[in-house]
Amino acid sequence: MFDRIAPFYDAMNRLMTAGLDRRWRRITVGEIVRPGDRVLDACCGTGDLALAALARGADVVGLDFSERMLDRARAKSREVEWTCGDMLALPFGDETFDAVTVGFGVRNVDDLEAGLRELRRVLRPGGRIGILEITTPRGALAPFYRLWFDRIVPLLGRVLPGGSAYTYLPASVRRFPGPEALAALLESAGFSTVRFRRFAGGIVALHVGEAGR
Ligand SMILES: C[S@@+](CC[C@H](N)C(=O)[O-])C[C@H]1O[C@@H](n2cnc3c(N)ncnc32)[C@H](O)[C@@H]1O
Repeated sequence: MFDRIAPFYDAMNRLMTAGLDRRWRRITVGEIVRPGDRVLDACCGTGDLALAALARGADVVGLDFSERMLDRARAKSREVEWTCGDMLALPFGDETFDAVTVGFGVRNVDDLEAGLRELRRVLRPGGRIGILEITTPRGALAPFYRLWFDRIVPLLGRVLPGGSAYTYLPASVRRFPGPEALAALLESAGFSTVRFRRFAGGIVALHVGEAGR
């Protein structure tokens, strides 16, 4: 499915977030990446979050299991080490990285808890994690959000080239844990000082934490 989305992925991102995804990526790396860090961007897709980490002076590995997504990433930069692999079985030793980022990726992973434990394994003690993910807002925005996800996104899926693959999106967001539950899962996976903030009225959340020492 991700191979099929790859040619349209960046354009769909800009369209569906009105360009705000760039800002969320900058904030994510601003919170957890420091110059000189060795950083893993897991589920890197076409590479925009990895490139934001690179722009902060980090030494970056981008990992994804979709070769077509990685082709797009490779076309953007040769400075990132783009690697084909599964987030559930990372091809790296324990405590390899200073920071790990995942942008709109953990929602798609088959076994979320195993994935979080795997991210923890490759982080050095005290290393930082940043997870940017779509979430379900509460309150005043909730009805607009349902309209967007349940009506507009499927419509875009029908009219845009390659958009049919986007019909997975509403269901994947609905079954993903809310921000409080994701924070608890991060703590169970061995992260401490976990906190989260919401963007765009609660449609997207950024969770950050530290690998326990
Ligand atoms: C919605 S895209 C996000 C891409 C990028 N991180 C971003 O911020 O735009 C999700 C990506 O996760 C990848 N992915 C999903 N499950 C994976 C897994 N178990 N291992 C590696 N990559 C995975 C998909 O191939 C896809 O490129």
